[in-house]
Amino acid sequence: MSKKYINAYIEDSIGVVQLNRPDVLNALNRQMVDEIVETLEMYDRDDKINVIVVKGNEKVFAAGADIEEMMDESPLSLELADPFAVWDRIQLINKPILASVNGFALGGGFELALHCDLIIAAENAQFGFPEVKLGVMPGAGGTQLLSKAIGSRKALELIWLGESFSAKQARDFGVVNRVVAPELVEEETMRLAYQLANQAPISLRLIKESVKASEDLSLMDGMKLERKNFYLTFDSQDQTEGMKAFTEKRPPHFKGV
Ligand code: CAA
Repeated sequence: MSKKYINAYIEDSIGVVQLNRPDVLNALNRQMVDEIVETLEMYDRDDKINVIVVKGNEKVFAAGADIEEMMDESPLSLELADPFAVWDRIQLINKPILASVNGFALGGGFELALHCDLIIAAENAQFGFPEVKLGVMPGAGGTQLLSKAIGSRKALELIWLGESFSAKQARDFGVVNRVVAPELVEEETMRLAYQLANQAPISLRLIKESVKASEDLSLMDGMKLERKNFYLTFDSQDQTEGMKAFTEKRPPHFKGV
């Protein structure tokens, strides 16, 4: 699929978005973010796709929003164009999104990874929010997503200081799921993507909805939603197949219906 700043391709039932602006370390300009979000939405609508992967190249995930593009903005020009609003749409994607991170994931690059559901990182990956050093702050969800992931106290420390931290630190904070050698990031991400692609898609979707809702709902409201989603799985052929396969002592073959 031809896009200017990303490569979008499908491998079996996995839709891949590869950031492709290597000359500026995949700095995210507005068109690039539009292309990413539009592709994620297209994959989300495509019945043949079960899992989505977002990745950079072997040197960098993304070094943030494009500083040159935004340096001459005014509050009014930003308010009118509202360039970060498009990022909200990533939160509406129903399918699992895996971020595969090599090298820098800074500022908007870290935000993009945080908008994904799971992060698989290379040992040499570096995460952080350097915005404070530019006299600004995260604006594409960073303060919210990081606080929800690791708590406001640690998030404040990291965002205030603006220093980069390693993949292992990010894993210890609870932001990164897996850390592997740089040459294995792609393989580990795809292994996980295939593993998820073989699960029942409706279960994955309802689990994502339920877990994400836990960040905003009270315990009782969250449990109510979980219960309704559990009951809803019984409307799927995959529930019949999953339980039948168990009793027949064979692996299930899920169809996403
Ligand atoms: N925007 C625009 N261009 C960028 C960029 C960015 N965020 N990050 C890197 N580049 C460009 C550099 O200007 C440079 O271009 P030239 O070759 O034309 O000079 C090229 O990418 C290579 O970068 P460096 O020479 O700086 O590479 P390095 O290895 O010495 O340093 C780095 C790497 C530490 C990541 C450094 O590039 C850097 O600090 N980048 C900016 C990181 C940053 O501040 N990100 C936050 C942006 S604001 C934001 O993201 C707001 C938000 O919430 C959405």
